Amino acid sequence: MPPTSHRRKKHIPNKRTEILDDDGWTRITSTTTSTGRRPSTTTTPNDLGSSSAAGHPPPSLSGSLPARDPMPARPGSSLSSMLAQFRGIESRWQATELCKTLVHVLEKEILTGDGRNIDPISTCVMLGSGSFCGDAAHWIDRHDSAYFQLAAFRTVVHTVERVSGQRVCAYAQEPKYNDLDGELLDALNVTLVDHPRGFHLLDEHSVAYSPAAEREVEAAVIARKPRVWLHRSLDYLLQEEEEQGSQTRSAAVQFAANHEHMKLPALDVKNFPFHGSVIWWRKGYQRS
Ligand SMILES: C[S@@+](CC[C@H](N)C(=O)[O-])C[C@H]1O[C@@H](n2cnc3c(N)ncnc32)[C@H](O)[C@@H]1O
Repeated sequence: MPPTSHRRKKHIPNKRTEILDDDGWTRITSTTTSTGRRPSTTTTPNDLGSSSAAGHPPPSLSGSLPARDPMPARPGSSLSSMLAQFRGIESRWQATELCKTLVHVLEKEILTGDGRNIDPISTCVMLGSGSFCGDAAHWIDRHDSAYFQLAAFRTVVHTVERVSGQRVCAYAQEPKYNDLDGELLDALNVTLVDHPRGFHLLDEHSVAYSPAAEREVEAAVIARKPRVWLHRSLDYLLQEEEEQGSQTRSAAVQFAANHEHMKLPALDVKNFPFHGSVIWWRKGYQRS
């Protein structure tokens, strides 16, 4: 995420406190009384357990982020103003070469099978867009990026639905989402989920989109082997020295061997929300 020079007048930092739940999980809670709080959602220790039970290593954030750490909303934010801003950005996005290329490659290369042994994609998950209205220092300047990424995600969802003729379940996971972010997503038929559920939803029937993902998120996606992944190049991982030998590197090598990929065109808008985008898709599912 490129740094920005934007400065807010007053920033009241979250006070983050570690608490030990009755069930033994350490959680981090925010003590601000802002509009950032979200109601309890679906993440449970059982969710985490089911990952390893299914034979996948549970995704880890190496202690860097909790499942939920909502960013307080910028004062004056409302669902209607956010929807208006999103609609404007979505129109701009839909007019871009990048959007048209993305739709074309999905339709012609990725989703067009022979119609016999291919289960359609049923699930799309966006991971880590950032908040659409968050008020943290250096973040306000990135709202447009988050909206652009949401617009791209919806393009993927709608294209999959059009090609398959079936409804797709769309989810978004981002620890920084606040209540208003959740309302915006809800208004757009995207279900907010908490870490790690978004990873558990990924499999051979899913699409993942992880714009500018951190390495831990990237590793968790690779472990779930989604059929389609809108992400970036994995070269930096693939070229790591073998003796450094991270599990993520070997998983990435395997992933790259089993997936086709294509670099997407650049899009010159503020903060480059699609910098270095690459789309990956499982070999053997597309038309031969
Ligand atoms: C480098 S930032 C990129 C943000 C935004 N997509 C952009 O392009 O500016 C990575 C984002 O991933 C989010 N993130 C971290 N862990 C996550 C997780 N387990 N699931 C989903 N998002 C996560 C962070 O909160 C952050 O917003």
